[in-house]
This record gives sequence, C-alpha cells and structure tokens, in this order.
Amino acid sequence: MSETKIVSISPGQIKEDCIREAAHILNSGGLVIFPTETVYGVGASLFNQKAVERLYDIKKRPKDKPFSIHIAKKEKVDEFAFGVPVAAYKLMDKFWPGPLTLVLKTIKGSTVGLRMPDNEIALKIISQTNDPVVLPSANLSGSPAPVDFKQAIKDLAGLVDLAIDAGETRLGVESSIVDFSKGKPDFLRAGAIKKEDLESTIAKKNVLFICTGNSCRSVMAEAVLKKIIKDKKRDDLEASSAGIMMLSGLFASSGTQEALAKEGIDVSGHLSRKVTRDMARRSDLILVMERMHEEAILRIAPEVKNRVFLLKEFAKINSRSLEIPDPIGKSLDFYEKTLASIKEAVERVSNLI
Ligand code: TXA
Ligand code: MG
Repeated sequence: MSETKIVSISPGQIKEDCIREAAHILNSGGLVIFPTETVYGVGASLFNQKAVERLYDIKKRPKDKPFSIHIAKKEKVDEFAFGVPVAAYKLMDKFWPGPLTLVLKTIKGSTVGLRMPDNEIALKIISQTNDPVVLPSANLSGSPAPVDFKQAIKDLAGLVDLAIDAGETRLGVESSIVDFSKGKPDFLRAGAIKKEDLESTIAKKNVLFICTGNSCRSVMAEAVLKKIIKDKKRDDLEASSAGIMMLSGLFASSGTQEALAKEGIDVSGHLSRKVTRDMARRSDLILVMERMHEEAILRIAPEVKNRVFLLKEFAKINSRSLEIPDPIGKSLDFYEKTLASIKEAVERVSNLI
C-alpha cells in the first residue's frame, strides 16, 4: 500500500458516493480516515483480523490496548454488551450521539468500549458497513489526537486506503470514557464531557410507575411525583409512567383528569404508552399498583427483578392490602380516594429516595 486517496467533504454537502466508497473499503478490509465530532479517527472492520492488525501496526499501538467500537444506533449496544447497568443507559440516553465512550461487560466476561459519534459523515459510514467498525484516533500511539485533517493525515499518509477531509472537527477533544465493567463507574479518560455532568446524570433517579392501561393510577403517580420534583426542586429525580396493556396513545381517563385538576394538576396532554423492556431497563425504580403488573414486567424484563416493588410496599404503608385497585369505570369519589392513597404513597417514596 503506497497511496492514500483523499476526498474532501463539506459538512453541509455530504457526497453519498464518497460515503459508499468509504464503507466499501472498510468492508473489503481497508483502512479509512474520517472525522467524528471529537477528533479524526482511522477505521477498520472489527471482524477483519488483517485490517485490525494493520491498524495496530500503522498506529504503532500496543497490542494490549483495545479499540473502541463505533455504532450508529443505540440499540446496537445489546449486540456487544451484557448486563448493562442503569447508569450506563442514563449516560447513553443523555449523551449519545456524542463524545462519550462506555466500557461495558460482554457476555463472555471480557469488556467492550462503545461509542456513538455525533457526526453525520461518521454515522453514515458506520451504518453502511456490513460489520462493526473500530475507530481509534488517527494518530501514532503517544501523539496527540488530530483535531483537523492536516494533523490526521500527517503520520498516516500512504498507510491508509482512503482519507476524508472535512476540515476541523467540531469539538477538538476526545470522548470521555466511563468504565462500567467493574460495578462502580470508573472515569477512565477526561474528555469532552465534564466529570460533574456525567456524575449528575448518573445520580438522577428514574422512577417508572406502572398500572394496567396507563390512563389512571400510574398517570396520577407520575403527576404527583412531577409536582413534588417541581415544588421541592428535586432535580435528582425523574418520573414517568406506562401500562402493561396494549393501549398506546389514549388520554388519561376523565376521572383521573378531574381528580388531578382539583389538585391543580393538568394531565390533559398525557398519552398512554405500553411499557417496554427498554423503559424497564432504564429505570432505577419501578413502582407498580398490583402484583400482576410486577409479573407482567418481569416477563418482558427479568433483569429488573430487584428494582420492582408495589408502590404501597415501597412506601412502607401499613394497610390491609398493598395493592391499589383500578378505578376505571368507578365514581369520581372512587377516583379521588385512589388519588389520595397514591399521593400519600408517592410523597413517602420521595422522602425515601
Ligand atoms: O473521541 C474518540 O473517542 C475518538 C474518535 C475517533 O471517536 N476515538 C478514540 O479512540 O479516541 P482511541 O482508540 O484513540 O481511544 C479509545 C480509548 C483507548 O484509550 C482505549 O484503551 C479505551 O478507549 N478502550 C477501548 N476499549 C476499551 C475497553 N474494552 N476497556 C478499557 N478501555 C478501552
Ligand atoms: Mg487515541
């Protein structure tokens, strides 16, 4: 290999044939320099051993230093990682696509570094390749990461097959790296996202309330907790709700709307949604109204077992029954009583977490 083809792309005018060519070269085992929002990277196809070896060689990179895999969709995480902690989901939801690399456990017990870059050229190339792409910074090991094309091509000209010139990168700083493979988050590399911002995102607790149709009880619970968050400035909490039944896109029941309106809470904009495995995995605490809701959640997301509780049970309320019955179709008086018991429980919960 002696010549590197260089093409220029301006961010506003991405040439699709150039993206296709980059993906094709990666698919055929070649190496391509392209920009991300942080620094320039040099990509290779993960499953092409020769390409990966060549990447180690041209970067003069120690063989024990792994490359991170760059993905174009968050859902790809499941293809590489196993037992992803809630905190890692919170970071990817807040900062992806963006300058954050997460180190996660794999099913085989090793680790994998994953990042979803916030750059259209990078995302397009990655989504057009057949296999995952590793993308270390385009510099020799030990040298600073390149923040513009000139720096990126300096040491690697003639050593890669294609290089895409898109001028300067937007951020000019490498991604921050957080390692979740050892339980507690370990901040491995200070990068574009400040450690305080990563920590405060992790510290925020997501509470998910679940009922049957997400039109009465869980709506009340979410609304009450949101009011507490606002009134008491509980920036450490976040509330949402969902139902176990197939009833997406419905308004809150009129009894629910009326009962909450008397408390000065407007839920006229609420639309019901069905709980998904992703919602469950992204919640620190899942509070349900009846046992059957817990069973339904555990069928779709068994991994959240230790974070699902009956609302009244978690609130440590002493009452004959720990379930909160469905008010649907009942009188306004019944709705108001339901709201009163949910309010008492949610207030207690907010003091416990
Ligand atoms: O901003 C960035 O992340 C840039 C752009 C191109 O995306 N890429 C980048 O890659 O900086 P690289 O290879 O130069 O740095 C990735 C870092 C390395 O320090 C590597 O050791 C670490 O991530 N890393 C990757 N996988 C890891 C793993 N499984 N465990 C621990 N560290 C890992
Ligand atoms: Mg590097």
